Amino acid sequence: MADDETADKPAGKATKTAENVCAACHSRRSELEQTDPRNDYHDAYSLTLLEAPFYYADGQIRDEVYVWGSFLQSKMHGEGVTCSNCHNAHSLELRMDGNGLCVQCHTAQDFDTPRHHHHAPDSEGAQCVNCHMPATTYMGIDARRDHSLRIPRPEQSASIGAPNACNQCHQDQGPTWAQRSIEEWLAGSGDELGRHPFADAFYAADNGKPEAAPRLLEIATDDSMPAIARGSAILRHAPYHHQGSLEVLQQLLRDDEILVRLGALRSMETLPLNVRYHLLAPHLDETVMSLRIEMARLLSGIPLEQIEPDMANQLSGLYRDFHETADYNADMPGPQVVVGQFHASNRDYEAAEEAYKKALTLAPQHEGALLNLADLYRQIGKDTEGKALLERAVAAAPESATSHYALGLYFIRQKRYDQAAIELKAAADLALSSPRYAYAYALALENLGEEEEAIAYLEEWKEREGPRPQLDQTLHRLKEDSR
Ligand code: HEC
Ligand code: HEC
Ligand code: HEC
Ligand code: HEC
Ligand code: HEC
Repeated sequence: MADDETADKPAGKATKTAENVCAACHSRRSELEQTDPRNDYHDAYSLTLLEAPFYYADGQIRDEVYVWGSFLQSKMHGEGVTCSNCHNAHSLELRMDGNGLCVQCHTAQDFDTPRHHHHAPDSEGAQCVNCHMPATTYMGIDARRDHSLRIPRPEQSASIGAPNACNQCHQDQGPTWAQRSIEEWLAGSGDELGRHPFADAFYAADNGKPEAAPRLLEIATDDSMPAIARGSAILRHAPYHHQGSLEVLQQLLRDDEILVRLGALRSMETLPLNVRYHLLAPHLDETVMSLRIEMARLLSGIPLEQIEPDMANQLSGLYRDFHETADYNADMPGPQVVVGQFHASNRDYEAAEEAYKKALTLAPQHEGALLNLADLYRQIGKDTEGKALLERAVAAAPESATSHYALGLYFIRQKRYDQAAIELKAAADLALSSPRYAYAYALALENLGEEEEAIAYLEEWKEREGPRPQLDQTLHRLKEDSR
């Protein structure tokens, strides 16, 4: 099929496969196996969902994400538009220069006119891409255009700490000015600038606000939303799973969209092993490789001899795929840490130690490897051997709350509360919204006999971040005790 024929025929399986070919290189993902172009994308790669720090909470590009995860969010992708509608698949050049590219499909009379864009015709401010595909420059040189093809929403973007196209040019003005300008443009047309559908909930969840949870479940189950947004919503629900959301998970694990199933699986890490098994038992015959790998990780630790033989068979198959992928990634520290976790859940501590140590040979400062190896030593009664590892992690990444927290907990276990308080305060200061760190710091203060400080700290925290059940209980108890 000639390229020119595909231009105005967006839908169809053939074009989707072609897009997956581009996605193989132009996406942020981990690799599962030697790429065979006949494989589907999701058999060869596991895509990064819309997560910090790669994306802003509204899905705009933040770090290098290489196009595809952005484009998957767009209405245009939902309607079957694909890469080759804008890029010549062979030369990679744009099919047309300037606004001509967009008015292939969007009528020029409606959009390529000051009535729509309110800037002088042919000027920079009148270029469709400057408002709908704003550029971010990485490392000073690589300009990347955001392929989520979004409508600029200056105030909402600012409220979640994200940039917006208008103020990228109008740097002497603020988002409120830009928002008001758009509202003036729309006045009388009957249209208004609606809110972005998932930005608020994702931002709230990323800041540890439990009130986001019900909205996350709504997004995850709304099939008018892009699959990548639905998968990212259920992934963010991980800390909030409860009896009711297990039913939602059951439903999402049967969803047609691979990215919804992927997000559901990744969110299940917070569930106990028996619950995971209960939810996943009907799906052990999953065929998509990226999902099989997630399932193997989630189910490591299930005693094969205690389940039905055909289930055990299917589970062994998942484990086999997991190990093949791990072998394929043997020279990368991240995947080795995952292998270590897999063995640790299976209580094969020697193999786990070996995998973490291998990761550390590849990357001596790897935070995940250092923290996991220290945690392994704790599990097998060699807690003090972990101390040097935890200190190494803190030294390597002093800005990481996770490392300070792990070292702080170590000192708590050793009953060295003064040192614990220092580390836990550092963690709490680095992640101001995390109730977990605040709780741990208050506990260290209490153990130091500084109940008054603990109460004051928790009250200040609550004032700033809002109430949290566990913190409120602790606060209540501390106040009772001090009476
Ligand atoms: C085998 C990996 C691979 C595949 C498959 C691939 N690309 Fe690329 N592409 C690259 C690399 C590497 C670059 C250069 C780095 C960059 O700009 O991101 C690039 C650059 C580009 C550019 C920028 C070109 C320029 O002049 O700056 C475009 C546009 C592009 N690719 C589109 C596509 C499209 C559309 C497809 C599918 C038809 C595709 N690519 C398939 C690896 C690939
Ligand atoms: C609606 C049109 C459109 C679609 C659809 C589209 N692109 Fe682009 N793409 C652009 C424009 C415009 C640029 C900026 C080109 C420039 O400034 O030279 C661009 C730039 C790129 C670049 C260069 C680096 C960057 O991020 O700016 C890559 C790579 C790329 N596109 C890949 C893809 C892939 C892969 C797909 C499909 C998943 C795709 N594009 C779909 C319009 C589109
Ligand atoms: C191959 C056809 C095609 C091309 C080329 C195309 N679009 Fe679209 N675009 C669509 C379709 C289809 C939709 C979804 C239906 C709708 O909202 O009109 C859409 C929707 C949009 C939306 C609405 C997004 C939203 O969230 O509501 C914007 C903005 C947009 N396109 C901008 C652009 C820009 C900018 C370009 C050029 C870089 C472009 N389009 C090129 C077909 C196309
Ligand atoms: C100066 C910024 C700016 C430029 C340039 C611009 N747009 Fe828009 N566009 C907007 C804003 C703001 C909205 C949302 C308000 C509205 O619907 O008018 C929007 C909305 C849209 C929509 C969604 C309309 C709907 O009813 O959902 C499409 C499609 C679109 N633009 C296409 C284009 C195309 C094609 C071009 C280039 C010919 C273009 N825009 C140029 C700012 C711009
Ligand atoms: C690529 C750069 C660019 C982008 C993106 C852009 N503008 Fe502009 N804008 C300009 C320039 C340059 C002028 C002055 C000349 C003109 O009218 O084109 C201008 C003029 C204006 C004016 C009238 C003059 C003034 O400063 O009061 C308003 C209002 C305005 N822009 C609002 C917006 C809004 C709102 C957006 C986003 C939806 C936007 N612009 C996006 C470059 C841009």
